Amino acid sequence: MKHHINGAELYIAEKGQGAPVILLHGFPLDHRMWQAQVEALSDNYRVITPDLRGMGHSDVPKANISIEQYADDILTMMDKMDIQKAALGGFSMGGYVAFALLRKAPKRFTGLLLANTRPEADGLEARKNRMNMASALYDKGASAARDAMLPKLLTEQTAKDQPGLVESLSAVMASMPAEGLVHASLAMAFRSDSVDLLGAISVPTLVIAGEKDLIAPPDVMKKMADAIPGASFHAIPEASHLAPMEKPEAFNALLFEFLKGVTA
Ligand code: MLT
Repeated sequence: MKHHINGAELYIAEKGQGAPVILLHGFPLDHRMWQAQVEALSDNYRVITPDLRGMGHSDVPKANISIEQYADDILTMMDKMDIQKAALGGFSMGGYVAFALLRKAPKRFTGLLLANTRPEADGLEARKNRMNMASALYDKGASAARDAMLPKLLTEQTAKDQPGLVESLSAVMASMPAEGLVHASLAMAFRSDSVDLLGAISVPTLVIAGEKDLIAPPDVMKKMADAIPGASFHAIPEASHLAPMEKPEAFNALLFEFLKGVTA
């Protein structure tokens, strides 16, 4: 359902009852990437999966937007939905937004899932690639992001075994508003470095990597987990970047066990 948030209509999916769990999607995706987690958790939790501004069914920003502003949207969403505290999960770009939320309002989160994400800001080369992506998005539409990202999201084996998954991902990515993805690319290019935040994270934290993820490699994620007090780290075998969709059973088992230990 759509909610009016900070001057825009944002799409927020919600299922189940219980302690709230907010899951933030990656680029160039939307709430649909969490379908398997919603199904697994919603018998026990109130699972909230928003479309970040400019992606999925949410309005495209009218002016440039930062990762901090995506985080502000989530805090306003929590106020509007009467959620004082929630467990928070972020996948990749959603992880960048989760870091911003932990900086802005650490007391509003009871636990943290960091999936296939990394704390460092972009270097010059990565920024340049994002500029090229923004330009390609204007030239070719959302298919530019789909064509660049799709081969990196799943292992070769998964792509071979699950053509239906490849097809549905391709359709989701091609359906994104191109200009919303331009905003997301620029926001990621100029995001803050979150390495300094890691030692100050004081909520229980679960870090999940894909053993074959080249975007957020397991060694980078292990280093991140080691810097977060008490965090647990798991690398899912035979998973690439999109571990929550590629290996939902393994991912959900870790998440479910983790959430049991997170107090509302
Ligand atoms: C994502 O999956 O959200 C992106 O790979 C993040 C990024 O490009 O840094």
